[in-house]
Amino acid sequence: MTRFFGHISCVVAAVIVAGCSQQDSPSAAEVDAATESLMATQVQPEAQVYWDAVQFISDADGLHEIVPETDADWERTIEAARELKALGEELQQPAYAANRGADWQDFSQGLVDIATRAEAAALSKDPHKVLDAGGVLYNVCSACHEQYMELKAGAAPIAQRPADLQQ
Ligand code: HEC
Repeated sequence: MTRFFGHISCVVAAVIVAGCSQQDSPSAAEVDAATESLMATQVQPEAQVYWDAVQFISDADGLHEIVPETDADWERTIEAARELKALGEELQQPAYAANRGADWQDFSQGLVDIATRAEAAALSKDPHKVLDAGGVLYNVCSACHEQYMELKAGAAPIAQRPADLQQ
């Protein structure tokens, strides 16, 4: 019984905290920090899973194709697209969007839209469609970065580019 009440008071505390943070909108520094962390810990890793799934690499030894082979490989690719879709929705929340221009919502929705297409491509299990969607995904990331990301000296906008764009 004591434990049960312990849970209730936690829930009440959580609601109060959420209520407070909704009233004062986050500062620019908080929004930047939240965005940077979401990008580094979730957006980039999920995009990388998607880009790594299909790679047509040509080098001195000829053309190498990396494509998902098992159901688990495809499932991971589909899941990465779904995560990116959720992240595009998340980016539209005040924690990431407060005090930004209206185009922030467009760029974030752009991520939702391309991730939806990327998911359909992976569900179709057609490596060429996954490769195409991955290329467009890269452009969607870059479009928002051009507008909103201040390049720190020497830093690449995206840690790693998809292989098909590296040459
Ligand atoms: C709606 C806009 C928007 C979209 C879409 C977006 N980003 Fe970002 N991204 C940003 C902003 C703004 C920053 C800079 C955050 C900061 O440091 O203040 C950033 C920073 C980053 C960083 C650097 C993080 C760090 O550690 O400094 C990486 C990596 C990144 N984004 C990857 C991606 C990838 C990959 C995609 C596409 C799948 C993507 N982003 C899509 C806005 C966006």
